[in-house]
Amino acid sequence: MNILILGGGGVVGQKLAQSLAQRGHLRGQEITRMTLADIVDPVPVEAPFPVETTTCDIADPASVATSIDADTDVIYLLAAIVSAHAEEDFDTGYRINMTGTINVLERARALGTKPVVVFTSSLAVFGGEVPDPITDHTFLNPQTSYGTQKAIGELLVNDYSRKGFIDGRGFRLPTISVRPGKPNRAASSFMSSILREPLNGQEAICPVEDDFLHYYLSPRKCVENLIKGAELAEDDVGMNRNMMMPGKIWSVRQLIDAMTAVAGAEPAKLIRFEAQPDIQRIVKGWRYDQAPEKSLKLGLTADDSFEDNIRYYLEDDKPAA
Ligand SMILES: NC(=O)c1ccc[n+]([C@@H]2O[C@H](COP(=O)([O-])OP(=O)(O)OC[C@H]3O[C@@H](n4cnc5c(N)ncnc54)[C@H](O)[C@@H]3O)[C@@H](O)[C@H]2O)c1
Repeated sequence: MNILILGGGGVVGQKLAQSLAQRGHLRGQEITRMTLADIVDPVPVEAPFPVETTTCDIADPASVATSIDADTDVIYLLAAIVSAHAEEDFDTGYRINMTGTINVLERARALGTKPVVVFTSSLAVFGGEVPDPITDHTFLNPQTSYGTQKAIGELLVNDYSRKGFIDGRGFRLPTISVRPGKPNRAASSFMSSILREPLNGQEAICPVEDDFLHYYLSPRKCVENLIKGAELAEDDVGMNRNMMMPGKIWSVRQLIDAMTAVAGAEPAKLIRFEAQPDIQRIVKGWRYDQAPEKSLKLGLTADDSFEDNIRYYLEDDKPAA
């Protein structure tokens, strides 16, 4: 089993690689090789099988061709630029998130071996005048360029699968929190930084009110679900290859209370509420009331409590003092 993670230098890509390295098998077969490819050379991971790292720009078909070996069995397509970045830079968003996805699917098709392709979509594919809750049958109605690019990716994953070029499956990730590292250019960046920075003893700004509701999943659960997602039988995935990944709805207040329950009262004192209209405009258009029946039925899961998300951050990611 030869696995490629495109976007393997990113937060989810690195955690997925570490988890696959520990696990050693996927889809009933031993992993014999794994490649992490990213626009910047990814940090290598320790594994009992060979792991390569390589640079790849998915927007460049030649670069994609050299990164996707002919014997690749499973391709995780995580490479993308995130929401606020794609909104600010229309051309780059389409070049990477749309054309890049086409380049990867075309290369997968050219292999002629019908590799499994796991695509990471987003709940940003929903929006506008669709009723709550969002169900498996809600039509895609993105209200941002990023959401539109992900929606196009979903349709392509469906069509390439229908044609038998790939065995595709796409998962609309909830917002991943608590995300390690530094703030990024996602409009959702604050949904981690209001917890991560205070847990690390630093100040953070919350750009929305504390009753702001959203749909969350921990990095640990996300990776578990991406592994289960690759293992699903093709027939179970069905004719719509894309589905919501389960998450849970919490308010900003509930996130902060969970942090206080796990880490004491001090971190919450480092959060300053300061309205940021540009961020609010994007995140208030996102739909959080999701009913992910299909993925739950297929065995994907959400976190039990947000306290768990806080504990996972402290166990897995908090930098040593
Ligand atoms: N983290 C979330 O909350 C969330 C929510 C919904 C969807 N997603 C999606 O999940 C995937 C992984 O998210 P993440 O949080 O790990 O993001 P991330 O930004 O940490 O990782 C994405 C990686 O893609 C790489 N990349 C960007 N442009 C590239 C290019 N042209 N060629 C090759 N690599 C390129 C980046 O360098 C980065 O390492 C993305 O597709 C993202 O859109 C994430």
